[in-house]
Amino acid sequence: MADTLTKLTYQTLQQGKSYLSFAHKTLSIQARKALKPNDLPMIPVPPELITKLQQRVNDLLAVDWQDAENGVYPTSLLFDEPWVDYLKQYPSLIVDMPSIWRRADGKKHQDFDRDIETDGYPSYYVQNFHHQTGGYLSDLSANLYDLQVEILFGGSADAMRRRILAPLKASLTAFSDVPAKQIRILDAACGTARTLRGVRAMLPQASLFAVDLSGAYLRKANEQLADMPGELVQLMQGNIEELPYVDNYFHAVTCVFLFHELPPAVRQNAIDECYRVLKPGGSLIICDSIQVADSPELEAMMHMFHETFHEPYYRSYMEDDLIDRLNKAGFAQVLPTEVHFMSKYLVATKAVDS
Ligand SMILES: C[S@@+](CC[C@H](N)C(=O)[O-])C[C@H]1O[C@@H](n2cnc3c(N)ncnc32)[C@H](O)[C@@H]1O
Repeated sequence: MADTLTKLTYQTLQQGKSYLSFAHKTLSIQARKALKPNDLPMIPVPPELITKLQQRVNDLLAVDWQDAENGVYPTSLLFDEPWVDYLKQYPSLIVDMPSIWRRADGKKHQDFDRDIETDGYPSYYVQNFHHQTGGYLSDLSANLYDLQVEILFGGSADAMRRRILAPLKASLTAFSDVPAKQIRILDAACGTARTLRGVRAMLPQASLFAVDLSGAYLRKANEQLADMPGELVQLMQGNIEELPYVDNYFHAVTCVFLFHELPPAVRQNAIDECYRVLKPGGSLIICDSIQVADSPELEAMMHMFHETFHEPYYRSYMEDDLIDRLNKAGFAQVLPTEVHFMSKYLVATKAVDS
């Protein structure tokens, strides 16, 4: 009975989030129409595609519930929402919309306020990804990011992130002789720490580490992790291309929603670095956007995403062979790819004798 009630509550919460994000999208379209009545109309999504997408969301939520019910992670994680923060940030998100439209219309992709320091970052990174104000380099951007991503994915972004948890837990069985506290896990390109909250909830004793290029996002990550029990997560500002750790250090590395935002050569450097810092027998678990090969029916949508959301490297990402890259880096085994809603999952393991 308790389980049935919890499941219903979870389903209602997810439904509520999807209505709220739909309401916001409708508001944003209406506001834009009011400001620019002569704008080109949006291309409507065909009804059969909407049905398919809805089915994918339903499947995602079913697996999410199943993993919690099977004890992969605590059921409470399904309700881990920063509502107060979302409410606090929503007015700023509305106020920021005209700047985003101005940037999108003017194709201004490197538009930064003077007080934002862009020196010292790789040039591929100094971009207004998703037309974001401040790119990844401002506190405003870090504050709005989670809310924007949840709206984009109709409230299912965290459910997609959680799909790395079961394979992460399974991969650690290779180290069952290591005490829980001595297990070291790195979340590379951690952003605002939504993934880390999930990892911490599932593995309360493990030593968690995280790297991101953005100081602003790391500040937000620190804030978001402050109420989590257990040892502090060790956050470090750094580039995934030059991870600030010695070889063979981590039992597992996770990387969520990064590769589609990297140029092709950098994708390879990033995978090579993850391989280097993994212990023999350790696994890299990737969650990223779907690609044409696993979701050909959504190819038109992927093109639309690349063009309208300023994802400068998405076009090359759509066709990139990530498994080939993992093999090139030296990974001995790559499990069959999983796909959930708009993301895909790869688990690659470093040979025990490497
Ligand atoms: C789309 S966000 C994903 C963040 C987070 N993993 C999540 O699930 O929300 C991409 C993140 O990658 C970081 N990033 C981009 N290029 C990077 C690089 N070369 N090294 C480290 N972090 C990078 C950005 O600062 C940003 O926080």
